[in-house]
Amino acid sequence: MPRPDRFGRCLPAVLTLFLAVKVSTCGEGPGSRPNILLLMADDLGLGDVGCYGNTSIRTPNIDQLAADGVKLTHHIAAASVCTPSRAAFLTGRYPIRSGMISYNGYRVLQWTGVAGGLPPSEITFAKILKEKGYTTGLIGKWHLGLNCKSPSDHCHHPLNHGFDHFYGMPFTMMGDCTGWELSERRVGLQRRLDFYFQVLAFAALTLAAGKLSHLLPVSWVPTLSITVLAATVFTTSYFLGDLLVHADCFLMRNHVITEQPMRFEKTTSLLLKEAESFLKRNKQGPFLLFVSFLHVHAPLITGKEFLGQSRHGLYGDNVEEMDWMVGRILGCLEEEGLSDSTLVYFTSDHGGSLESQLGSHQYGGWNGIYKGGKGMGGWEGGIRVPGLFRWPGVLPAGRVIREPTSLMDIFPTVVELAGGQVPRDRAIDGQDLWPLLLGSTPHKHLLPHHEVLFHYCEHLLHAARWHQRDRGRVWKVHYMTPIFQPEGAGACYGRQVCPCSGENVTTHDPPLLFDLTRDPGERQALTPDTEPEFHAVVSRVQREVDRHRQGLLRSVFQQLGTYLNTWRPWLQPCCGTFPLCWCCPEDEPREDPQ
Ligand SMILES: *[C@@H]1O[C@H](CO)[C@@H](O)[C@H](O)[C@H]1NC(C)=O
Ligand SMILES: *[C@@H]1O[C@H](CO)[C@@H](O)[C@H](O)[C@H]1NC(C)=O
Repeated sequence: MPRPDRFGRCLPAVLTLFLAVKVSTCGEGPGSRPNILLLMADDLGLGDVGCYGNTSIRTPNIDQLAADGVKLTHHIAAASVCTPSRAAFLTGRYPIRSGMISYNGYRVLQWTGVAGGLPPSEITFAKILKEKGYTTGLIGKWHLGLNCKSPSDHCHHPLNHGFDHFYGMPFTMMGDCTGWELSERRVGLQRRLDFYFQVLAFAALTLAAGKLSHLLPVSWVPTLSITVLAATVFTTSYFLGDLLVHADCFLMRNHVITEQPMRFEKTTSLLLKEAESFLKRNKQGPFLLFVSFLHVHAPLITGKEFLGQSRHGLYGDNVEEMDWMVGRILGCLEEEGLSDSTLVYFTSDHGGSLESQLGSHQYGGWNGIYKGGKGMGGWEGGIRVPGLFRWPGVLPAGRVIREPTSLMDIFPTVVELAGGQVPRDRAIDGQDLWPLLLGSTPHKHLLPHHEVLFHYCEHLLHAARWHQRDRGRVWKVHYMTPIFQPEGAGACYGRQVCPCSGENVTTHDPPLLFDLTRDPGERQALTPDTEPEFHAVVSRVQREVDRHRQGLLRSVFQQLGTYLNTWRPWLQPCCGTFPLCWCCPEDEPREDPQ
């Protein structure tokens, strides 16, 4: 029997050993399963965040995540607009694999009442985590479709994609929600309706005149029918703004519409309350909560407390308000004693929009030193976004990772952490980030984290990046680039986004080559004269592109094409009787029964 003094001396050592073992199982992931809190901003630029170099905007809560955790400086979205980027994020796959990418200029889902959306056959990380016993919630923006055949089949609904709980906008924020800015969609519709009205009115008048003067042998029936039709078109056009607000700017809790249209002065506090109540309800864990902010997308709905407070106009106010929301959510996590058992991630779905201007007033994001922005498939500003991870006691604080990583990596990373398995029956493009985050990647023999990443604009491959680890270089090859308007402006002013194809896009042969390691802003394209490796690099990347293309299935159903992406009146979600889509908002969000 050990003497008490010896035992006494041993005990701390045993305890330390025990703790060390415990921490290292945490560190290895599958041993202990963290809660997972994913925070995604909408349209936030990398240059809008303090810890990524912004000195005049206040984002203390986001910056604190970087100080307490790992900051990725080369974190890349799979697309430069919402729908495809979010599809890729949730599935870990390039959106071209799931048909969640357009080829006709639509770019994203255009209405809530369309039949396209994330196919039910796709596997989201939420689906896998739910199977592994996680309670899964999505709060905020979805924009990945709703129905297929009837206004309540909810085939594309978050609850059909692995989420136990949903509260938020099935669609997305947009200028139409407030009438504050005319969207391209609304302008186009208005023009078409006005044209139809003129044609119909002209026809009705001609028939009436013919009938009255006895020159045309017609009855009153066609004349009256056409008049009624013309009046309907006129009314629709007159009330178009209101119709659009009711059609797409509404909130749902699970399968029920709770507010149509939304009362924006309440939205931020409703979303926050919902997030806090989810955390409280599920604090026994494990849970996955995906907070998908409506900030900082136009029309920049901002509470009184933040209006006029930033140094960057309404856009800056909105960024600062979102940062405050991040703080509120993290504060709740702390109060509930969940900080140490929760992996927190913060990102943006793609870069800031440079074209978003009202008059001369900029209200889109800022992408720092990176060229281009939202909507540009290849230029860095459209796809390089913030990427922060925090798990106190497990991930090192203040670590910075410069290796190229992708938003698609979240899929395998959280699946592995939850003890799940990455699907084997399909291509998964994301790679498990965990070893990189822990700093335990054996650098000697392994390939880089991502050796190549492909950058699409709609279905067209605009660029590809190659990480040549042995030389410590990241190369970027551009096959197609948009022509800026005006020339050299760095954006396509006068349009909402730059086009992906057509006469205002340049095809490069040989492609443009940049060395992102030395020229992250893509200012100076390399030539065979300035870069001796030019041809070797370009042909190496071409081989990767060919291999990638061979791996793509041809027969994917196009979810964002004209057929599935056109408004269908019978798919319009409506909480009254169509077309009177209006319902009293809840005053107090009721507790969710599940
Ligand atoms: C900070 O963000 C604002 C708002 O987007 C932008 O106008 C400003 O240029 C940024 N400042 C820096 C130093 O990046
Ligand atoms: C291309 O840009 C020019 C100049 O802004 C514009 O007039 C033209 O309509 C654009 N073409 C297309 C197909 O958008």
